[in-house]
Amino acid sequence: MRHQVVIIGAGPAGLMLGRLLEIAGVDAVILEQRSPEYVLGRIRAGVLEQGSVDLLRRVGAGGRMDSEGHLHAGASFEFDGDALRIDFAELVGRQVMVYGQTEVTRDLMALRCAPTIYGAEDVALHDFGGAAPYVTYRKDGVEQRIDCDFIAGCDGFHGVSRASVPAGAITEFQRVYPFGWLGVLVDQPPAADELVYAHHARGFALCSQRSPSRSRYYVQVGADEKLADWSDDRFWDELRARLSPKVAAAVQTGAAIEKSIAPLRSFVAEPLRFGRLFLAGDAAHIVPPTGAKGLNLAMSDVEMLGDALIEALVERSDAGIDAYSARVLRRIWKAERFSWWMTNLLHVFPDGGDFGRRIQRAEFDYLAGSRAAQQSLAENYTGAF
Ligand code: APR
Ligand code: PHB
Repeated sequence: MRHQVVIIGAGPAGLMLGRLLEIAGVDAVILEQRSPEYVLGRIRAGVLEQGSVDLLRRVGAGGRMDSEGHLHAGASFEFDGDALRIDFAELVGRQVMVYGQTEVTRDLMALRCAPTIYGAEDVALHDFGGAAPYVTYRKDGVEQRIDCDFIAGCDGFHGVSRASVPAGAITEFQRVYPFGWLGVLVDQPPAADELVYAHHARGFALCSQRSPSRSRYYVQVGADEKLADWSDDRFWDELRARLSPKVAAAVQTGAAIEKSIAPLRSFVAEPLRFGRLFLAGDAAHIVPPTGAKGLNLAMSDVEMLGDALIEALVERSDAGIDAYSARVLRRIWKAERFSWWMTNLLHVFPDGGDFGRRIQRAEFDYLAGSRAAQQSLAENYTGAF
C-alpha cells in the first residue's frame, strides 16, 4: 500500500491532522491500535482556546461545539477561600469554549472519509531518516506495509513514534510533580457558571463542567494514592473542604459515573522532526492539566504540521517542514511555562514548607492587586501567546 502520509494515532491530534490533509487533497491514512469505542471512552478535559475553536469551525467540525458548548468569559481563582474572578473578556477581549475533548474527538471521527485503520497492532516505523519511509503493522493477524512520503507521530506519550527515534537524536525535558489529580464526573448541574480553580492548605481543587447537567471535579491527591481509598463521599467531603463556603454549598453531589487518578508531569521532547518523521500532540509534549493546554497545544501543533506537509506535498516547498520543529517548540514552551506557573500557584507541594506557602499567597495577592498580572493570566489562559 502507498499513501503520501501515514498518521499514527487517532486521538484529537491525529484526527485533526487527517482532516486538514483530507481537505487539502493530500492522501493520508490513520493507524490506531485501539477500537473507536475505546478511543471515545477516554474521559479528558474540555476547555478550548479561541485558536482551537476557529480551527474546528474552519474544518467543518464546529457544529455541535457551537450548539452544545458554552462560551466562558472568565474563571474564578480561590486561595484559602478568598475568591478572585479573572474576566478574560474585559481584560483581553477573549473567551474560552467549554466543550469536552471526547466530543471533539467524536466530531472529527464523524467527519472523516479517508481511511482509518483501527485495531492496528505492532505498528513499527522504518527508514524515516531516508527518502523512502514505510510503516508496518498487523491487522487481524496479517502483516501489512505502507510506503509513504512522511510519517506523523500523533500516538500520545506512550506511543511508538517517539520511542522509535534513536536516543542520541532526541532530548527530553521533564518535571514530574509529587501529586496527582483525582477526577470525578457526575450527572449533576455545575457548582458555578464558570470554572473555579482553588488553592487550599489541604490541596488543589477544580470545579469544571461538561453541560448544564454534567459536572467534572478534581482534587489534588498524593502521587501514590489509590482509587480504592476514595469513596464518593470522601471525595465530596474533601472537595467541599477546599472551596469557599459559597461554592462548596453549591456543589451538588451524586454517584461518580467516572472516577480516575491522573499523574501530573511537564514533558517536552526536542527536536520534533527526524527526517521524514514529525511528532505532534502528547507524543511531543505533556502539560499538567492545570492550565487546560493539552488539547489546545495538540490542535496548534497539527495546524502548523498540516500547513507544512501540504506545502511540501502540494507546493513542493520544504520551507514549512524545515521550520516546523523550531516554530512549534516556541509555542509549546510558552504553554509549558504557563501550565507550570498555574501548577505552582495552585497546588500544595509536600516539601514547599511555610516559606513556599507564603510565597504562593503573595503571588495570589499580587495577582489580585495587579491588572497587568490578571491580563497576563487571561492572555495565557485564552491562548493569546
Ligand atoms: N500504534 C497506534 N496507535 C497508537 C499507538 C501505537 N503504537 N500508541 C498509541 N496510539 C494511539 C492511542 O490509542 C490514542 O488513541 O494514539 C492515540 C493518541 O491520542 P492521545 O493520547 O489523545 O494524544 P493526542 O491526540 O496527542 O491528544 C492530546 O489528549 O491526553 C490528552 O491532554 C491531552 O488533550 C491532550 C490530548
Ligand atoms: C476539565 O474540564 O476536565 C478541565 C478543565 C480545566 C482544566 C483541567 C481540566 O484546567
